Formats: sequence, C-alpha cells, structure tokens
Amino acid sequence: MKDIEFDYSQAVDSCQLESYRALASAAATTLKHGTGAGNDFLGWLNLPLNIRTQLSDIQASAALLHRECEVIVCIGIGGSYLGAKAVNEALLSSFEALDHQGPKIVYAGQNIGEDYIWELQNLLRNKKFGIICISKSGTTTEPALAFRILKAQLEQQQGKASAQRLIVCITDAKRGALRTLANQEGYKTYVIEDNIGGRYSVLSPVGLLPIACAGLDIQALIDGAVRGMELCENEWEDNPALQYAAARNFLYQEQEKKIELLVNFHPKLHFIAEWWKQLYGESEGKEHKGIFPASADLTTDLHSLGQYIQEGERILIETVLSVQSMHHEVIIPYDEQDMDGLNYLSGKHIDEVNKMAELGTQMAHVDGGVPTMRFSIPQLNEYYLGCLLYLFEYACGISGYMLHVNPFNQPGVEAYKKNMFTLLKKPGY
Ligand code: PA5
Repeated sequence: MKDIEFDYSQAVDSCQLESYRALASAAATTLKHGTGAGNDFLGWLNLPLNIRTQLSDIQASAALLHRECEVIVCIGIGGSYLGAKAVNEALLSSFEALDHQGPKIVYAGQNIGEDYIWELQNLLRNKKFGIICISKSGTTTEPALAFRILKAQLEQQQGKASAQRLIVCITDAKRGALRTLANQEGYKTYVIEDNIGGRYSVLSPVGLLPIACAGLDIQALIDGAVRGMELCENEWEDNPALQYAAARNFLYQEQEKKIELLVNFHPKLHFIAEWWKQLYGESEGKEHKGIFPASADLTTDLHSLGQYIQEGERILIETVLSVQSMHHEVIIPYDEQDMDGLNYLSGKHIDEVNKMAELGTQMAHVDGGVPTMRFSIPQLNEYYLGCLLYLFEYACGISGYMLHVNPFNQPGVEAYKKNMFTLLKKPGY
C-alpha cells in the first residue's frame, strides 16, 4: 500500500536544511524519550496501539446511538470536537444533510450563539436524538451550557430513563462537574486519560465515538495512525514528520516566514485545516513566538485570498494537502455548439482540471516567493486520514521543541475566561 509522501523541494534546498535536520532529530529524541517540557502529556504517542482494546466497546456504543437516534448531537469545543468534525466532514457526503441514510451528526457547545442553540433545539423538537458530551476538564462553559439545555430537552421529550441510555459522556476519570454529573445520572462514560491533551485526543474516544457514530471505520483510522507511528520512526529520508518540522522551522527562523497556510484542493478537507490550526496554534503560539497557522480552500479562495498570496507581504509558507485519486468519476461532456468554449476539456475528468489548477497554482506561488510544501495523500479514506493526523501531531511535538516552547500546555486560553467570568459575576471571580 502506498504511503503519504511529503515534498519540501519547492520550499527549501536540502543543503540549506542540514542544521535544521539535526535540530529536528534532536527534538524528536526529546519527544520520544519524554525528556522535554510537558512530558506528562505524551499519552497520545502510543495511543494508536493502546486504544485498540477499546474499539469494540466504542463501536457498540456507536451502534446503540445509530440504531435509536435520528440525530446525534456531539457537544464539545476545541480539541474536544474538531478532530471528529474534521474526519466526518472529510469522509461523509458533501450533502450529508440531505443524502445520508443513518442518523445526522450535529455539533453543539463549540460556540455561545443563542440563535445557533435555538435553531438546534427547534431541529431536535419531536425527533429521537442522543447526546455525546465531551469535555476533559468537565468545566468548560460552552459545552456545559449546551449540555444543560439539550439534556433537559432530551429528558422532557423522551423521559429520563430513555435519556439516560442515549447520553454518553467523555471526560476525566475522576475530576470535574461532568464526571460528577455522569456518575450521578448513571451515563455511559469514556475516560480521557490525564496524559492526553484535548488537541492530541482525536485518536481517543473523544474522536473515535463521534466518528463511529457517523458509520465510519475507526479500525481503519487506527490502522492508518499505526502506520503514521511507523513512519515517524524512520530515518530522515522516509520520515515526513521530521522533514515537515525541520522545513517549517527553517523558513520561520531563517527566512522570517510568519504565516503558514494549509491549503487543499479538495473541499472536504476544510475541517482538517481547522483541526490543524487548533493543534499548531495552541501548541506553538507562546512566549511571543510561533508560526501563525492559517488555511485556504482552493481553488475557491484563489478568488479571494489568491491576490494576497501571489503579491502581498512575503511572509507566507504554503503547505498543500494533495489528494491523488478521487472516489468518483465525472467526465466533462462534448457540446456541439461549444458556446462556453469548454470543448478543449471534453472527455477529461473534473479532477484532471483540478490537478492542473493545483500544479499551476504551485508554480505561480513559488515564482511569487511563497515557499510551497506538499503532502500527497493517495486517497481520502479512514486509513490515510488516521496516518495524516498522527504525522501532524508528531511533527507538532517536534516543532514545538525546536521553538523551545512547551507544545502541550495552553496558558493563554485562560485570559478570556477570567474576564468573562468577572463580567458575568461568577462566584469566586
Ligand atoms: O486542546 C485543548 O486542550 C483545548 O482546545 C481543549 O480541548 C478545549 O479547550 C476544551 O476543553 P475541555 O475538553 O476541557 O472542555
């Protein structure tokens, strides 16, 4: 089976990278041996192997929700929802809301939008629904608010006993309000281990249960992640995580490239970039350091951000997620009249046009002074996504250590919360 490949040749010359290659290897050793900052948060490193004993239990919970619900509400914010959302969006139909046979997966607790929650309550009225509530701390305001409201609606619509069966909580083993509540109500629970931070939790029950609820193959996702682990053990030549971490740090530290754009030419990858932004933003943005993670969906955003990428400030790096083969075939038809002048494309697949757009964009951006790196993903499926997620996590750990920050804490996230609690007069603030 083909592997995901990484190409940095359009971003940096390999001779220039020599010293960063050594720095990346040293950072990888620190990560592997658990000798760096935040080393009490390395449970994700072996998660693809350790989670295997829990897969059938997770699949059984998903089967129950799948059988009994028209809608499954997945409550969580940040690392507690982005991984599942990213995989589900990448692998379900683009028109899932109209197309999908099984229960619809919807998300809540990732914002404090009053209209959003009203519209969700309205959608759920008179429907059989279940809830997966995910919060490691069990005290985060956004998901706690959504859970309070939707739990009450579920109990009112279906009765307390039925609601008790249709709620699953994923939280700390002992601490937090969600743990106390789940124990008291007798909900099915899964534990987020102490040594796994939110943004590194997609391959734990946090990501796996909502992904299994969508009818996707979590065994294949984990198999792909295990392959990702193997690739991270390779020597430099065959180690995409090491190469990626080294190249992006070289561009940041030696060429003052401050922003990395993760771009895709596949509309289903939008939320993979949202997950990646959270992973890299929360892991590296510290002590007034770090590459700002941004993203663009191409060719869509070539008609909005394209001008800036081509000719704006030369502070950008571009990393392309390139999917090699599509699942479906659409051939461009021949038209007798050719009024739109598109007959030169007739007989081609849509993806042939997309691939030329990708190549043409890469050439233009490199010519315009935007170093461009590229991950080639053979196909969009559970296996390759599992592999990609693990490679990004591992590269993020290495990259954080190369920057001399702790990639596993997020002290800055507290600042807005303190102000909000003071303004809302929360007891103790
Ligand atoms: O990556 C992180 O640690 C954060 O994004 C958390 O996942 C997010 O803040 C949600 O926290 P919790 O799961 O405790 O509700």
